[in-house]
Amino acid sequence: AGTPDPLPDHLRHRATGETAVADPGVTPYTVGLTIPGQLRPTRVYADHDYYEHTMESAEVRILPGVKTTALTFGGSFIGPTIRAKAGRTVRIKYTNRLTEPANVHLHGGHVAADNDGHPMDTIPPGASRVYEYPNRQDPAMLWYHDHTHHREAEHVYRGMHGFYLLESDAEKQLNLPSGKYDVPMMIRDAAFDENGQLVFDDTVDPLQTRLTTMVNGKVQPYFAVAARRYRFRLLNTSNHRTFHLSFGDLPVVQVGSDGGLLPRPVPVTELSISPAERIDVVVDFGGRAIGSRFLLQTAELGPVLRFDVDRKAKDTSIVPAVLRTMPAPPVPIRERDITLGLSPDQQWFWIDGKPYDPYRIDATVRRGTTEIWNVHNADTDFGGIEHVFHMHLVQFRVLDRDGAPPLPGESGFKDTVHIPGGTSVRLLAKFTDFTGVYAYHCHMMEHASTFQMMAQMEVVT
Ligand code: C2O
Ligand code: CU
Repeated sequence: AGTPDPLPDHLRHRATGETAVADPGVTPYTVGLTIPGQLRPTRVYADHDYYEHTMESAEVRILPGVKTTALTFGGSFIGPTIRAKAGRTVRIKYTNRLTEPANVHLHGGHVAADNDGHPMDTIPPGASRVYEYPNRQDPAMLWYHDHTHHREAEHVYRGMHGFYLLESDAEKQLNLPSGKYDVPMMIRDAAFDENGQLVFDDTVDPLQTRLTTMVNGKVQPYFAVAARRYRFRLLNTSNHRTFHLSFGDLPVVQVGSDGGLLPRPVPVTELSISPAERIDVVVDFGGRAIGSRFLLQTAELGPVLRFDVDRKAKDTSIVPAVLRTMPAPPVPIRERDITLGLSPDQQWFWIDGKPYDPYRIDATVRRGTTEIWNVHNADTDFGGIEHVFHMHLVQFRVLDRDGAPPLPGESGFKDTVHIPGGTSVRLLAKFTDFTGVYAYHCHMMEHASTFQMMAQMEVVT
């Protein structure tokens, strides 16, 4: 057998000569949290909204007084937010102004295979193409990122990520905190060199070098809040790092996950969020004194953000006891085993004993059917290596973890699930509407991009 698609050496060894510094020297809480701007449609048609967007290299401000070269969507380190309405089609023309191929995957999107950003389906430099997103799915915070074969880890690391907020009128009627009290937060780690440039080196353990955190592209910002409820849509875009977040003694309820609202709110104290996962929470600053301050802490890298209560504000929002009704679970026609694990020589991460081959179909699924995917993380070596399993096309339910009920925050729909070494997760997925080839992979970006932990299914009629 061998390796059908070996990683070219120039990609495997990224010892660029850049050396990461442990601390880029930012004084905490001196810069305010920024909220990415919204991409506006260039044209609004009767049946869809049309946008124009770019991939481009840009000099961005992450560290004070320093320009950092980034790979971006639209010229900003966090791409502009795309706000879409459930049921209304969005078409986005992307022009690639980079010097290499790139593409776009709408993470969590239920889209046709042609519009999914398959790793081999890229936009050459200088060219454009249109992606179409029907948005026939539940409102949720999705995100968009590059998915170019062998390059996605570095592309996303260097800034090719943005929010895609799918909204609905029904959800608005729940009266959760909205408008400026509904805040997306992209949390991630990174390594900087002494000149404030991003260091990408996949020959070293990223958890040892990527020690700087950012929220919405700023290092340890403060966020001036009113003494009332807020909705925070958290997304972890670290390539590798799972964060355990806490809001101190503030009351926090989780209201949503990757695929939208949970059936009921879940009170939480510590939140585990792995790469690409979304956690939607309502945090209540109500009754807190003006001048009081709270930290958003991570167990891994300390505080990432400070909330400064600086005003009172009227609050008519609520957290309803019932957020949504989950449809009855569809009946599966089969159960499929998927195994994530090191290659025998321990040089690669594989799925079902094989490296990723973008021309091989690993699973054939019938459109309209439901399957259970029993995903086993076989990596018990080195104290257990975690993986983060992501399926394109579908929003699945987590049925159980090693036979035990899933975590309370997994009671809704998800597209990405954390799997500790030596454990298994059973997922229930229905494959509707579309046929074609879709990826599934570990979302620790280097595992998929560099170390081959990716596979693909073909949905057939
Ligand atoms: Cu977030 Cu295959 O991707
Ligand atoms: Cu992995």
